[in-house]
Amino acid sequence: MSSGVEAYKEFFETNIIPPSWKDRSWSKEDFRKFHQSTVESKKALEEWWVKWANELFWFKKWDKVLDDSNPPFYRWFVGGEINLAYLDTDWQIEKGRKNKVALIWEGEPWDETLKQPKEVKKFTYYDLYRESNVISYALKEKLGVKKGDILTFYLPMIPELPFYMLAVQRLGVGHSIVFSGFSAEALAARILDSGSKIIVTADGFYRRGKVVSLKPIVEEALKICEKNGLTIQKVIVVKRAGIDIPWNSERDVWHHELISGIPPTVKVPAERCTESIISHILYTSGTTGTPKAVQRSAGGYAVGLYATMKMIFDAKDDDIFWCTADVGWITGHSYVVYGPLLVGLTTVMYEGSPDYPEPDRWWSIIERYGVTIFYTAPTAIRMLMRFPEDLIRRHDLSTLRVVHTVGEPINPEAFNWYYKNIGREDVVASSTWWMTETGHIITGHFPGLGKLFPLKPGTNGYALPGVTLEVVDDDGNPCPPGVRGYFVITSPWPGMLETLYKNPQRYIDAYWSRFKGKMYFYTGDFAVKDQDGYVWVLGRADDVLKVAGHRIGTAEIESALIRHPAVAESACVGKTDPIKGQVPVVFTVLKKGFKPSPEVEAEIRKYLRATIGPIVASDVIITFVDSVPKTRSGKIMRRLLRAVVEGATLGDITTLEDGVAVEEAIKAYEAIKTAIGEKKG
Ligand code: WTA
Repeated sequence: MSSGVEAYKEFFETNIIPPSWKDRSWSKEDFRKFHQSTVESKKALEEWWVKWANELFWFKKWDKVLDDSNPPFYRWFVGGEINLAYLDTDWQIEKGRKNKVALIWEGEPWDETLKQPKEVKKFTYYDLYRESNVISYALKEKLGVKKGDILTFYLPMIPELPFYMLAVQRLGVGHSIVFSGFSAEALAARILDSGSKIIVTADGFYRRGKVVSLKPIVEEALKICEKNGLTIQKVIVVKRAGIDIPWNSERDVWHHELISGIPPTVKVPAERCTESIISHILYTSGTTGTPKAVQRSAGGYAVGLYATMKMIFDAKDDDIFWCTADVGWITGHSYVVYGPLLVGLTTVMYEGSPDYPEPDRWWSIIERYGVTIFYTAPTAIRMLMRFPEDLIRRHDLSTLRVVHTVGEPINPEAFNWYYKNIGREDVVASSTWWMTETGHIITGHFPGLGKLFPLKPGTNGYALPGVTLEVVDDDGNPCPPGVRGYFVITSPWPGMLETLYKNPQRYIDAYWSRFKGKMYFYTGDFAVKDQDGYVWVLGRADDVLKVAGHRIGTAEIESALIRHPAVAESACVGKTDPIKGQVPVVFTVLKKGFKPSPEVEAEIRKYLRATIGPIVASDVIITFVDSVPKTRSGKIMRRLLRAVVEGATLGDITTLEDGVAVEEAIKAYEAIKTAIGEKKG
């Protein structure tokens, strides 16, 4: 196997390994010691990250590596001036990658006769540079966009999305990307919170052989914004699907018209961005009904991405890198766009669905472009696992050398299938743990350290050096190996969020206040560490679900439902699902005058599609009940409901809810069981 282990090892040996270890082969213990040193000493921690930061181009280097004077508002590379677009294009061109393919884009439509995709576009680093410069110019000169602004992108997986991302980075302007599967209401809430005056969208896109239209959703969202006092200055529309769409000629402009007449060679200087300039905000779900926006600048983020591209993906110059995530999520921000370009790779972007026209589309993409590094989600693997393996054998996947997953726990069965069938048992494979808030990968298997840290199916492996993780009990004390606890990060890391946009108090409350007297970042996950120090993340410990890898708060679903005229009350919990990991089950109490029926159910589902969006809404299981069990203080007995949907026995539930008498819990349990039973019957 030609993995770049040697080069990686060399990097470690020349830069990382203390001189005293150099005359012998480094061992697991050495690595642990090194890791530990970054935990125990701030100096070692800073030195480690500075080594990585020094590999990047800075207009001006930092005055201070880490400002920890005002926790949890940590700031990295303070005073350093950097630009993500410059790093991803100009700097790559300077390094000789001008004519190298930076982006391969494949549209979904399929030519049945020729047995190939109808559209494939390849963009060199120079193309990316030019495309994004032209857009920067248009935004700056025609629309007056300036440093410090935030633009909202509601775009599908088309090349214009990375073009616009790079274009705003060049200007020192932040983006707020809203996943194109979100509904008008969700989009409106995010636009309103961000205060964006410019929206970039498309007429529509292709998904599973159909055209999905986007612009009408924007139209609806903007009506909501208008009602709430926010008038949108411009809507830029990329023509992708060529469909009829609603149009407001004063406000809307086609992307191709906006840039027409601008010379393709136009150059816009890259702004020098310090840690005080927002590179992006990204809304994510938590335990309340209102999503919150993670905010970060460019410097520390770039350092974290660069380091993980090298350490976790073992990126080499000739790699073809494919991360299947939608750019609307953090995984797509970091590992479809910014990360792979930062290290000069060719990144692949695919518009559509993995099973169109047949469930071998992904394998055909790997073969078509000779993908060497593949990054996907367990849900997709579990879905594709159901199909005959012949579909895989039709394709040559021998170019793959690293295949990781992300987004949710991977069950050993899916991991083994992935490793065997996609990875030919001859790759580095792991489940990399991280989250929107961390910005980049935090744990995984390191290609260069494979021998020291053997693969274990299902684990999340080891933390990056320079990141200190712990599994702790309710009081914040470390749990012994094998004991489940809360997953925390105990020291700052470079790509970390810097605050929640316009909401510093919520930042403190949501992440840094869980363990009294301890400055720990609470991830919201349950995990165990095993005897070897490997982390196993088990799932969320809070009321956040991962539905097919999509993050959604149960409170968001409940607060959407409660606004439906037929709904008096609802309680949402997650149920384990063999493919999607989890699906939401909503126990719904109808208002007087409404009776449970397939029509009401269909109506509610339609409503959920309109409010939270079609992706999650289609997976929701709606269960009508007469009442939702509550504690005396009025809290929904969620753990009990969870036990019911998971089919736990009565014996398991008696101690589930604080302050609820055993008999009461049993009564509530029986009542709910009966209600569900009657419904099914
Ligand atoms: C979960 C996605 C187990 C976890 C990058 C986390 C995982 C949440 C893994 C963040 C993994 C992510 N194994 N669980 N490898 N990766 N998670 O913000 O519960 O969409 O808290 O970021 O996904 O989801 P988010």
